[in-house]
Amino acid sequence: MSIDLNARIPNNVDLADDRRLQRALESWQPSFLNWWKDLGPEGTIDYDVYLRTAISVEADGWAHFDYVKMPDYRWGIFLAPPEEDRRIPFGEHKGEPVWQEVPGEYRASLRRLIVTQGDTEPASVEQQRLLGLTCPSLYDLRNLFQVNVEEGRHLWAMVYLLHAYFGRDGREEAEAMLERHSGDPDKPRILGAFNEETPDWLSYYMFTFFTDRDGKYQLSSLAESGFDPVARTCRFMLTEEGHHMFIGTTGIARVATRTCEVMKELKTEDPEKIRAAGAIDLPMLQRYMNFHFSVSVDLFGNELSTNAANYYTAGLKGRFEETKIDDDHELSNDSYEVTLFEEDQVKQTKQNALLAVNERLRDDYIADCQAGVDRWNKILKRNKVDFEFKLPHRGFHRAIGTFAGAKISPDGQVLTEAEWTKSSKDWLPTRSDREFVRSLMTKGVVEPGKFAGWVAPPGRGINGQPLDFEYVRLH
Ligand SMILES: [Fe+2]
Ligand SMILES: [Fe+2]
Repeated sequence: MSIDLNARIPNNVDLADDRRLQRALESWQPSFLNWWKDLGPEGTIDYDVYLRTAISVEADGWAHFDYVKMPDYRWGIFLAPPEEDRRIPFGEHKGEPVWQEVPGEYRASLRRLIVTQGDTEPASVEQQRLLGLTCPSLYDLRNLFQVNVEEGRHLWAMVYLLHAYFGRDGREEAEAMLERHSGDPDKPRILGAFNEETPDWLSYYMFTFFTDRDGKYQLSSLAESGFDPVARTCRFMLTEEGHHMFIGTTGIARVATRTCEVMKELKTEDPEKIRAAGAIDLPMLQRYMNFHFSVSVDLFGNELSTNAANYYTAGLKGRFEETKIDDDHELSNDSYEVTLFEEDQVKQTKQNALLAVNERLRDDYIADCQAGVDRWNKILKRNKVDFEFKLPHRGFHRAIGTFAGAKISPDGQVLTEAEWTKSSKDWLPTRSDREFVRSLMTKGVVEPGKFAGWVAPPGRGINGQPLDFEYVRLH
């Protein structure tokens, strides 16, 4: 299917043939642009940014690079190509043809799933809106903006589904997406982690590693949905999400690399000396990891969830890589091992697999995070630095599920209130940590090829361009 790039809203959903839908989206577009100008990246209206724009869903078409002013970015609507004769892969409708229209009995549930996912997309743009002012390089600045426009496109993707399939309620939900704002005391974003600030670039790398990765798992389970438009939308979003997580993985690796260099130059492990030299000491990096991991792990919800079980049974939201799992895909007679906090103890329990669908997704997520940590530890090893990053226990610093409010150390010990108070400053970023990190980032580094002193340059540039390429033209 070819896409008319001159249409106001590039798409592969035959928008031109549906005047009602086209008009609805065109009337939402000005609100979106106003929102972008008010709450999108600060002071960037005239920047020319070397961005990737999706112009089709084929392998060679979705990564088209050119200079674009962000308000002119073509936020298109793209669904992955339909799979011929696709069948619902799980739940009580397993084996039936996938739905092209919303089944009446699942309308409210589907709408809720779409709204919850959609709400996170503009939220992250809001959280990151001031970061451009303190960028460590033009390369990083461009990557930030790439993520911002793609999260904007993901909002478009969800708003398309609401407008196309949910009538009036859908239109109201689409408006509300721009009325809730990250951290707004009256109208906050739906999920906790999306109301936290992303106040500095270390937090940003952590966010793209840990929180965008939650997005990968949520989208992957929606990509299995029996409601085919959701599945196809999420499949295409996942192709873009890869770059967001790349920024996190390589960003943290670059910070660790720079810290190792400073440690070698100064022949020291002393955090004070490392900070005095303008680098971020490894224990502080660990504290940031602990924080971002714990708030992201919360995003998977309760360990045991009847909502999740119902979504699964209905065929709305599956498991990660559902079709590759070797079981009956109905789960009514299966069990799954779940770690719970009960009677002041961490317990391994056997639970009904249906009720544990959230926990299984959390397990897949944690294993994926561990792979990143292993990668960073290799950098430390290569530099002969005697330190090892560790993911904290899943019960550490939780606000949702059975561990909510429990005092659990990063290695999984149950603590008294007093023990927690004494040690938590060693485990979570302190106010002085945050102040120090901010003090490293008081202004942007915007000379092509230059990088801030707390982060190593990346291994290579974007789209084969050199590191000193002018990734953003500021005017
Ligand atoms: Fe996204
Ligand atoms: Fe993302």
